[in-house]
Amino acid sequence: MKIVVVNGSPRPNWNTATLLKEAAEGAKSQGAEVVYFDLYRQEKFTGCISCFGCKLPANEGRCIVKDGLAPILSAIREADGLILGTPNYFGDITAGTRALYERLLFPYLTYKISPRSCNPKAIPVLLVMTSNAPNAFYETSPYGEMLKNYQRTLSTFIGNTKVFVVGDTLQVKDYSRYNWTMFDPEKKKLHHETTFPAEKTQAFALGAEMVQKPW
Ligand SMILES: Cc1cc2nc3c(=O)[nH]c(=O)nc-3n(C[C@H](O)[C@H](O)[C@H](O)COP(=O)(O)O)c2cc1C
Repeated sequence: MKIVVVNGSPRPNWNTATLLKEAAEGAKSQGAEVVYFDLYRQEKFTGCISCFGCKLPANEGRCIVKDGLAPILSAIREADGLILGTPNYFGDITAGTRALYERLLFPYLTYKISPRSCNPKAIPVLLVMTSNAPNAFYETSPYGEMLKNYQRTLSTFIGNTKVFVVGDTLQVKDYSRYNWTMFDPEKKKLHHETTFPAEKTQAFALGAEMVQKPW
């Protein structure tokens, strides 16, 4: 099995990437081949430019734009699973992740009454979101609905999607350099030391499950 992992954080070694690397190791532990991309290390790219190239019958289901996203899109087409991670930026996925999302999903949208999607091969998707907000906030705020919406749409066009939220992350190494009053640095550090390791273990297990028992 081939699993594609995409880090939608601009930071290649922080919270999101750490969890994605664990999930990748989990997938590898079950014999999968993993292809890992740092979205923000790709050549320049944009979201969908509405060229409608993908709607021409000859290109059905394929984005024809050749930029930094093209290698990721073609790797996902050949994959048996997709692990996509993004920090929460202003209650949403990051701009880069949204660009990938548009370019990945729009080619499969048929604009036909039925079927809605022309994706010939559904693959399991794991969407990982990290945030300052704690996990519980997703139950009581619009964050929950935002994630459900991504889960629904990814499930329709790419394949059954699981969501893994990791909140209350450590945002910087040294909070004392900033005049922030919203956070208790000691609490953040404690959470990072006590809870984040268990979340890494959960990420590993989800990566392994994607290969062992694809959903
Ligand atoms: C531009 C920007 C916007 C953010 N907006 C939010 C937000 O709306 N809600 C939230 O809970 N965290 C927000 N955060 C915090 C990040 O989601 C959080 O620190 C995340 O774990 C960072 O992921 P990383 O360590 O992989 O880069 C924001 C961070 C940045 C840089």
